[in-house]
Amino acid sequence: MQDFIARLIEESKRFLNERAQIDDDIGQEAAKFVAREIPAPSGIFEKSDSPLIRWIEEAIQFGSPETERVLNALKPALPFLPWKYNYEPRPDMPDLGNQMGWGEILGPEAPFHDDHFCYGFTLLGKNTFYPAHYHPATELYVVLSGHAEWTLDGVSKVRNPGEFILHPSNHVHSMRTSDEPLLALYTWSGEDVVTLSKYV
Ligand SMILES: [Fe+2]
Repeated sequence: MQDFIARLIEESKRFLNERAQIDDDIGQEAAKFVAREIPAPSGIFEKSDSPLIRWIEEAIQFGSPETERVLNALKPALPFLPWKYNYEPRPDMPDLGNQMGWGEILGPEAPFHDDHFCYGFTLLGKNTFYPAHYHPATELYVVLSGHAEWTLDGVSKVRNPGEFILHPSNHVHSMRTSDEPLLALYTWSGEDVVTLSKYV
């Protein structure tokens, strides 16, 4: 396994393991990732040609002391994550694929194959609205860098680096950045992590 990916997985697990010590819904979700065995990768991580790469330098600048170690591990890996955006195109927002996306490390189509669990990173550029969407998977996020507005079931809140956010299965959620990009770690668990997210 490439060293920077091994280190990133290790730091991600260390970080989520701290939260997993609290036995609540978020802690239990974090514990699932900590316990997940990571299989051998199916290939190497090659440098991405995604338009999202242009946000990387700025996207790591708005962390906190709590997220510093994960961000340091993430920094060398970011250009090599398999960044993608695979929603159906939206005529009203044609630029979304240049503004946001995710790099999945573990999952049904990720370099580390897992049909029942996903782990990766979401990146939004500045002044970007990730429209309301939903999916069957239970989603755990932790903000690593950037202060953005997160909305779940119509309730909006600015979330800070280090905060954990749980999106229960099929609950509608969205995110909006302003003058800082957003970088967040996510996991997907549950009966169905194969069905993609859909816009409302
Ligand atoms: Fe989601």
